[in-house]
Amino acid sequence: MPAKAAGGYSRAMQRILVTGGAGFIGCNFVHYIMEHTTQHVTVLDKLTYAGNVESLSGLQSERFTFIKGDICDAVLVDELTESVHAVVHFAAESHNDNSLEDPRPFLETNLAGTFTLIEAARRHGKRFHHISTDEVYGDLALDDPHRFTENSVYRPTSPYSATKAGSDMLVRAWVRSFGLKATISNCSNNYGPYQHVEKFIPRQITNILDGNRPHLYGNGRNVRDWIHVQDHSSAVLAILEGGRLGETYLIGADGERSNREVVEMLLSLAGQPRDAYDLVTDRPGHDLRYAIDSSKLRRELGWSPRFPDFEAGLADTVQWYRDNEHWWRPQKAATESKYAGQGH
Ligand code: NAD
Ligand code: TYD
Repeated sequence: MPAKAAGGYSRAMQRILVTGGAGFIGCNFVHYIMEHTTQHVTVLDKLTYAGNVESLSGLQSERFTFIKGDICDAVLVDELTESVHAVVHFAAESHNDNSLEDPRPFLETNLAGTFTLIEAARRHGKRFHHISTDEVYGDLALDDPHRFTENSVYRPTSPYSATKAGSDMLVRAWVRSFGLKATISNCSNNYGPYQHVEKFIPRQITNILDGNRPHLYGNGRNVRDWIHVQDHSSAVLAILEGGRLGETYLIGADGERSNREVVEMLLSLAGQPRDAYDLVTDRPGHDLRYAIDSSKLRRELGWSPRFPDFEAGLADTVQWYRDNEHWWRPQKAATESKYAGQGH
């Protein structure tokens, strides 16, 4: 494919900085970029409880550098931003349940961290891509015929989604006020390899592998719109290459499923009765339904998901957790005891 200059970025550029590259989506993106481009990738990651350098093992090459550090460290961020052509910003506190227990790290990383990065990007005139979530739009009724679009109103409901919404607003303001060369993407719920066991799908897969019953919040009827993490990566690369500066793109793969349906599929894959789960205390303020209309991305950039079959992707993901117990086992007990303390 010929290199494209749209959006101020092309594959011919040599160096990109990926924040949060030791987390779930960030590490999958780094693997994707290493495989599909010839670029040099620098990862900046604080290695919080959610970061794991093992997710990047196998990438030791001249094209890859890992820096342990905080996106709120202005001196470090300035130096790293100066040395690259583009910044892709994944780093965040990302779990709703944690944001309800202790919101402060969400304000620091999601707001102050994003501020620190966009200041450096504008000082050095660098291309910036901000990774965000569909949760900034609040939730939909189960029978609402509409899905979220780029024009949906921001209505965040949790400390997590409020800080992500705030970070989107900062990026938009920096585009307008300072000409920041930025794009934003808001993606639906991701699944796939290297996701922390605190999140819904890996938590239930590893519960089942451990012989424990999956836990569904409330009545289990809440709906999430699932996308394979590799499809998120390909969409972000498409936006970097061809996205129009200042624009927002929604990323989704038409994967709406209720939590109950997902757990039933996981139990079936494990050869267990489909009702072998427990309903537990609901999450306070639990968003009912998310659903993405990604037609702008598909129309403008010709993107489409490579993993449209959710059941097949889920089966592959179960197999990945079976094969990689060494990766998730160290976090499992601590995660479950944290949930027990929260009444889940
Ligand atoms: P994650 O929690 O798995 O990973 C976050 C990474 O950021 C970790 O490696 C962590 O160490 C790092 N980090 C946290 N604070 C940092 C700081 N101050 N400085 C440097 N590094 C720091 O998260 P994820 O699920 O991979 O999400 C990545 C991004 O994608 C987030 O911005 C999130 O809002 C967004 N997103 C996630 C989903 C999803 O389904 N998980 C969906 C849409 C958008
Ligand atoms: P989660 O993975 O935390 O993502 P998000 O809150 O960002 O959508 O949760 C996905 C859905 O699964 C959400 O509706 C909450 C629900 N859930 C459970 O039912 N049980 C669980 O143990 C967890 C962690 C989540």
